Amino acid sequence: MSKSLCGALTAAFCSIAVATTGASAAQADPAQARAEQTLKEMTPAERRSLLLGFSPFILPVRERPAAMGAGYVPGVPRVGVPALSESDASLGVANFGGVLRVGDVATALPSGEALAAGWDPGMAERAGAMIGAEARSKGFNVLLAGGVNLAREPRNGRNFEYLGEDPLLAGTLAGHMIRGVQSNNILSTIKHYVLNDQETGRTELSAELGEQALRESDLLAFEIGIEIGRPASVMCAYNQVNSVYACENPFLLNDVLRKDWGFKGFVMSDWGAVHSTSIRQGLDQESGTNPKDPAWFGGKLEAALNAGLVSQADVDRSALRILRAMYAGGLVDHPVSGGQPIDYDAHGAVAREVAEKGIVLLKNDDDLLPMAATAKRILLVGGHADVGVLAGGGSSQVNPVGGPALAVTVGGKATFARKLYAKSPPLQALQARLPNAIVSFDDGADPQRAAAAARQADLVVVFAEQFSTEGLDLDLSLPDNQDALITAVAAANPRTAVVLETGGPVLMPWLSQVSAVLEAWYPGQRGGEAIARVLTGEVDAAGRLPITFPASLEQTPNPRLQGVEIVGNKTDKQIEALPDNQKHFPVRYPEGADVGYRWYDRTKARPLFAFGYGLSYTRFEYKDLRVTGGSDLQVSFQISNVGSRAGAEVAQVYARVNGGRRLVAWSRVELNPGATQRVTLSADPRMLAAYDVKGRSWRVAQGAYAIEVSTAADQPMLTGKVSLTMRRIKP
Ligand code: BGC
Repeated sequence: MSKSLCGALTAAFCSIAVATTGASAAQADPAQARAEQTLKEMTPAERRSLLLGFSPFILPVRERPAAMGAGYVPGVPRVGVPALSESDASLGVANFGGVLRVGDVATALPSGEALAAGWDPGMAERAGAMIGAEARSKGFNVLLAGGVNLAREPRNGRNFEYLGEDPLLAGTLAGHMIRGVQSNNILSTIKHYVLNDQETGRTELSAELGEQALRESDLLAFEIGIEIGRPASVMCAYNQVNSVYACENPFLLNDVLRKDWGFKGFVMSDWGAVHSTSIRQGLDQESGTNPKDPAWFGGKLEAALNAGLVSQADVDRSALRILRAMYAGGLVDHPVSGGQPIDYDAHGAVAREVAEKGIVLLKNDDDLLPMAATAKRILLVGGHADVGVLAGGGSSQVNPVGGPALAVTVGGKATFARKLYAKSPPLQALQARLPNAIVSFDDGADPQRAAAAARQADLVVVFAEQFSTEGLDLDLSLPDNQDALITAVAAANPRTAVVLETGGPVLMPWLSQVSAVLEAWYPGQRGGEAIARVLTGEVDAAGRLPITFPASLEQTPNPRLQGVEIVGNKTDKQIEALPDNQKHFPVRYPEGADVGYRWYDRTKARPLFAFGYGLSYTRFEYKDLRVTGGSDLQVSFQISNVGSRAGAEVAQVYARVNGGRRLVAWSRVELNPGATQRVTLSADPRMLAAYDVKGRSWRVAQGAYAIEVSTAADQPMLTGKVSLTMRRIKP
């Protein structure tokens, strides 16, 4: 008996069906058996209480949890059910505004994009394990982590929290990160399910995308992330998907997530994303409510129960899922207790590794970088490089170890749009590494002054920044006249490198005038040190873009940000929601499943920098491609480091499917000079398939496929052909 049929059946019959399914499942699943036993011992009100989360800082002081984070679900100590203490944690244990836990700090990882630019699943897992360990030591047992929304919209103000534009790359990395978090016997979410791909009007927009395209793109990222990471919970998104709110969408929550993917965890809502007592549609828990307001999964659910619109069996089904997740995730057997010591030095090393592996060298004319030992006068300009490195804003913001070097509130909503700099100044990090050079700093406020100083220098590094935050989308231009600053400095001294600290792609009208460009994203707790190590060549520039950098907005699928005309002009762009009386508006995706590089390939547009692109300080040669087909695709080739320095390459395998290019596998390889390695990779067959909506399965078509082994999406190094047999794969 399928649980998703429950809505169509009488409550009594359905409750028997669920109980029967539960009994057989219990034998194979001890967590399920324990959850069922505990449920039996709970009163109806106690069961219902698991379905309702609060924003802890709105609770009366005496009811607040010890660990103050974004959410809290009281436990039921009478039967040994622990409270859920939830913290945002995509980039470290968050503490936005530093107000949730005054004075408490945590290791601030670089942005999600920086992590994705490392293309390193093992590192993602270590980063997740590090965050999970800190969270545990602070008394949290649920992490609101695993942001895997695809970067369809390059202006999305939250792209910095996510993992780029490709479902295989993003899903794989999210899965490993979640696995790392949960290795601490705590729970993680994966979020925001699904298509919360822009912030403008995020609570009002309806993301419109047909099932096939959705399955092949954003859903696939979640599918892969859930397979690898087995998160305890899925957080449903604010927006509507094809005109139905994501948190009350039976297609997404019951049919796809539970029936097709066999997800056994529970679904929690995003904060304020519930609009009904939508329990039968698949939501289990409403998050972040205010006890003063009648909540959908609080008083309103009780009223719906009394009116017979919802049954006790519905409540039990959700309570059981939550209980099972607690037992399966180790929450009961390994209870958390806060106030434990944390080894911030060791964790800082993880943050530095993520930053270093994610820094992407976009341009390096005449080998300007690494900085020559002969450079005696080095000038740094702008970006507060004398105090620290920029972080993104919003619920994911971490109060970094050492406290913020600088924090400026921008825009309307103080705690969200907080431009924060972690105390890791590139200036001091470079000075420490270059004792024989004079490394000086100009704040860049006056381009003419900066240009005059640049004329006197052997080498100039301009730090250019673009702040982005949850709640607010961007445009692609650097703000505050920084383009003019770079142009003036580069005109004065062509030996100019630009280090970008941005939330995603930006336009670079000055590109031809500068010699080198490094994308450092938001580089986190030890970012200044990581930048200095890459600039000086202590480590290779090893990152590769996880997102396409467009040459212009006109190239992108939606040159105009959708909803922006409803929201108003840029300065009043809403944080989160449109006015209450605002109608829903559609957000359409002309690219369909062809997000990012696949769109550029399809439209034959040449971006500024392609997905997968990034230079190294050494050179790699590819040779001897061998491809085998049949029902599975295997690709093998050799990579040699033919330069004079140790370095890292990300070899990417693309297949042409229905004429379009798709990443099907990759490998990050570190090689000493002169070394050669054979790389053998298997393709995920779903990346070679089309999703067959009628047949409810993936279908790899019989035929010949062109294979490319590439150093970037648009730079094949080796090409081959392979025949594949027809194959169906269940979703
Ligand atoms: C965000 C979620 C976050 C939640 C709790 C929401 O605004 O969309 O990502 O987990 O707040 O802070």
